[in-house]
Amino acid sequence: MNVIRPDDVDIEQRVLAALRTVTVGPDGPDVVDGGLIHAVVATDGVVRVLFEPERLAGDDGGGLAAAIMPLVRAVPGVTRAVVKARPRPPAGRRPVPGIRHVVAVHSGKGGVGKSTVAANMAAALARDGARTGLLDIDVYGPSGHVLFGLAGRAETAADGRRIAPKEAFGVTVMSPGFLVPEGQALLWRGSLVDAGIPQLFFDVAWGALDYLVVDMPPGTSDVHLATLARVALSGVVTVTAPGQVSVEDVRRGMEMFADLAVPCLGLVENMAGVVCPGCGHTQPLFGAGGADELAVGTGLPVLARLPFVPALAAAAEKGKPAVIAEPDGPSARTFTDLARRLRSRLPVSVEETL
Ligand SMILES: Nc1ncnc2c1ncn2[C@@H]1O[C@H](COP(=O)(O)OP(=O)(O)OP(=O)(O)O)[C@@H](O)[C@H]1O
Ligand SMILES: [Mg+2]
Repeated sequence: MNVIRPDDVDIEQRVLAALRTVTVGPDGPDVVDGGLIHAVVATDGVVRVLFEPERLAGDDGGGLAAAIMPLVRAVPGVTRAVVKARPRPPAGRRPVPGIRHVVAVHSGKGGVGKSTVAANMAAALARDGARTGLLDIDVYGPSGHVLFGLAGRAETAADGRRIAPKEAFGVTVMSPGFLVPEGQALLWRGSLVDAGIPQLFFDVAWGALDYLVVDMPPGTSDVHLATLARVALSGVVTVTAPGQVSVEDVRRGMEMFADLAVPCLGLVENMAGVVCPGCGHTQPLFGAGGADELAVGTGLPVLARLPFVPALAAAAEKGKPAVIAEPDGPSARTFTDLARRLRSRLPVSVEETL
């Protein structure tokens, strides 16, 4: 498990000191004091320097990146350096009223366990006392309602305008499954997606929530783009299976979020081996080391690793997240740790919870 290491803090300080040797023009301030540097983040020796594109007069950043890169690489402890412009969020994005943090659970790859992670993370957040919602936006194959044992059509909220979400295990749940007869999928294409996706966020009577966990469909579709264009997300948790094929798809998905200025909070490696019920030894299942490879390549932490656990799928079949079905089991512990890591990265201040 990667954690923020004291070494990384030292590295960030050394990188900042190196950046202070670069000045803006011959007589100008250094690039740090001049406001050209947005952030310096080190994770396990991988350093990302994000500069402010608006502050560069007549330069696309290529000149600045070329000047900075060798200095950053030369800092002791730096194993890899990424220097790029701070991505700019699209102008039409807005926060969801009443919700402190909207967090997407995504993967470029289908079937890696996004819905399982989203449902259990939401259940673990709620069990820990956070006001939590789950929104499934996999409009072509929703499963969020099934994972929480919910069915039936959505009703109109008390205000007569919005949709009333349902509730299970302390989690407020909205799924496209509540909008169509059982077993059917929404037939949204093109402009219907562009109009319908924002409604799932903004036209639902969520009430006050600390966290809204969003279960994304696989890939990089219109649904993703409609979400990223209109909704202010606090970040995305990326799910991957350990094998190489999954890692490549996941990397593509992560790039979409990064390009659209949504912070990636970290990785969850799912189906990372199978535990022998006899001896407890973990056997690799779909390759090994995928999340570590992504973590090193991107500088992001691995927030949780979850082996293949038949009980997880069995709990899902029964309409109960494993966190609820087996609250003292190893999967529940993993998801509780994951929820706590998420909370430490996206805190809700005391005033806001009052
Ligand atoms: N760690 C695990 N151990 C055992 N079964 C798992 C695990 N994670 C997920 N599953 C099972 O694998 C199947 C796929 O998981 P899930 O639906 O969460 O994936 P997904 O990424 O959301 O898929 P899709 O791309 O179709 O939305 C489900 O049957 C689920 O119960
Ligand atoms: Mg899913």
